[in-house]
Amino acid sequence: MSDVAEWWQTSIINMEPGRISIRGEKIEELIGNLSFAEMIWLMICGTKPDLGQLRLLEAALVASVDHGPQAPSIAAARMAVTCGLGLNGAMGTAVHMLDDVHGGAGEQLVDWLHHLVDAGVEDNLDTEISAYQAKVNSFIPGFGHRFHKPVDPRAPRLMALVAEARDKSVVSGRFMDLAMSIERLLAERKGGPVPMNIDGATAVVFAELGLAPPLARGLFCLSRSVGAMAHGYEQMQQGGRNKGPTPPHYRWHYSGKD
Ligand SMILES: CC(C)(COP(=O)(O)OP(=O)(O)OC[C@H]1O[C@@H](n2cnc3c(N)ncnc32)[C@H](O)[C@@H]1OP(=O)(O)O)[C@@H](O)C(=O)NCCC(=O)NCCS
Repeated sequence: MSDVAEWWQTSIINMEPGRISIRGEKIEELIGNLSFAEMIWLMICGTKPDLGQLRLLEAALVASVDHGPQAPSIAAARMAVTCGLGLNGAMGTAVHMLDDVHGGAGEQLVDWLHHLVDAGVEDNLDTEISAYQAKVNSFIPGFGHRFHKPVDPRAPRLMALVAEARDKSVVSGRFMDLAMSIERLLAERKGGPVPMNIDGATAVVFAELGLAPPLARGLFCLSRSVGAMAHGYEQMQQGGRNKGPTPPHYRWHYSGKD
């Protein structure tokens, strides 16, 4: 290290007293001119999105904002507030739950979709699904839902927007085609729907936009943070102290010794 300035390196922001520039643009010129979604794109991609890309990114961010207190992330945010945490704690608690099974499965799906394309096995999906289930996980990420059967209403709407974007040559539609074929094959195998869920549908959008797998999870967290904040704030207004996952008169099933 030639200088202590080498300790952190970033191409995102430059800052010195009285001057802030992001990706080479003065903050004063960004403020009031860039939407929040454009700012997100600028931060992660280093460029400005075109209108078609922006529309898809915004759609995915809107779609995953909330799923109500049945969603573990939202319930946890509300419980956190009743335990005395502020909105930062409520949002952090929610985000911590968004991992492989809830809210974070998009990362795994984007990764797998890339593998399918890179390995040139798009026409061999049946075998690839079996291989994934045998070697990685019997649950294919981005598919299946506890409540929304046969269809998660968010998925077809997002796929329709991807199809529109494909027709305007904004995206290729390749990842959407793959994901829809996977959905069809899973349903055939199970003999019933295993619907594309919100993690899956947003993963398709992010893959189509060329965003890397970890960003699928990061962007989901960003979107769901809005839901966690709103629910945390509502819970603050309602009050309630130390609320557990069920009303106190409900007990768990005790399976130990008497
Ligand atoms: C979301 C999830 C936990 C719901 O699981 P669930 O409540 O057990 O789902 P269901 O009760 O509808 O499952 C019914 C059947 O479909 C199968 N199934 C469900 N999701 C599946 C998936 N992603 N891949 C393959 N099979 C799946 C189940 O194994 C089950 O089979 P069975 O009837 O032979 O036992 C599960 O689908 C899952 O883990 N999906 C992958 C992770 C993911 O996408 N998470 C984001 C959720 S929004």
